[in-house]
Amino acid sequence: MRLKDKVALVTGAGSGIGEATAKTFAREGARVVIADINDDGGRRVVGEIRKAGGTAEFHHADVGVHAEIEKMVQFAVEYFGRLDILHNNAIFTTVGHVGEISIEGWQKTVDVGLTAYWYATKCAIEVMLPRKRGAIVNTASVSGLAGDYTLGAYNAVKHGVVGLTKSTAIEYARKGIRCNAVCPGPIGTPPLLRMEDSHPELIGRIREAIPMGRLGEPQEIANVVLFLASDEASFVTGSFYVAVGGLWAHSGMPSLSGQGPEW
Ligand SMILES: NC(=O)c1ccc[n+]([C@@H]2O[C@H](COP(=O)([O-])OP(=O)(O)OC[C@H]3O[C@@H](n4cnc5c(N)ncnc54)[C@H](O)[C@@H]3O)[C@@H](O)[C@H]2O)c1
Repeated sequence: MRLKDKVALVTGAGSGIGEATAKTFAREGARVVIADINDDGGRRVVGEIRKAGGTAEFHHADVGVHAEIEKMVQFAVEYFGRLDILHNNAIFTTVGHVGEISIEGWQKTVDVGLTAYWYATKCAIEVMLPRKRGAIVNTASVSGLAGDYTLGAYNAVKHGVVGLTKSTAIEYARKGIRCNAVCPGPIGTPPLLRMEDSHPELIGRIREAIPMGRLGEPQEIANVVLFLASDEASFVTGSFYVAVGGLWAHSGMPSLSGQGPEW
């Protein structure tokens, strides 16, 4: 077991990537706090982890509220005795062209997707420092490395998460705390699966844009998070792991096939 006896806290663990990560952590021997605003989703994940023989506890937390982040970290420490792994993963995003985003939409996207990642990191560092041990993994995105049409607020937040990851990594590298990010491409989690029902042609175009020709599975991201959180990644900090089926390797240019041997 790669996380035997570790204590992990996963935000947004009631669905999608966070759910897959929490279940993977538990299978690898960690005791896991499932934090989410979605009580039904969070409790379902806890039930499924326990049924599979793992240890997990649900804690309702809105990471857009500072006091709830403090309580969430306290809960992990009080319930399981310490905190070894923090996976910042919850998200809210507003959609719209940069010139059309509302102040409220921008603010909530930043609060849940960036400020919360920083504040949970700050609270986790406080409890990790005395033991000189800890691993923080932030869910960024390919949208933290390049721009997307109509996702300006999300792009700003995810680029910010990559920056926060680097600063945290270098500042705590000599204090036993590692910090890394995972950058998923389009993954088949509920938001995209809902889009598949409502706009199948759009999901078809997304699949077409991905060199592997398919969406990723939540488990394929959880596998990367597991590595980054585990002691196997003991010399890895400040990195951002791109798991996008080849999407980020493509410049966006169409194929020149059929244009002749020279140009
Ligand atoms: N699915 C993708 O294609 C994709 C691609 C790149 C990055 N990501 C990132 O992966 C992460 C997880 O996304 P997902 O696709 O699994 O989404 P999801 O909707 O399946 O899961 C997100 C979870 O976060 C919870 N949440 C939302 N606001 C919260 C808050 N204020 N406090 C606590 N919990 C809150 C939701 O209730 C939900 O359970 C996000 O950071 C997202 O940006 C997803």
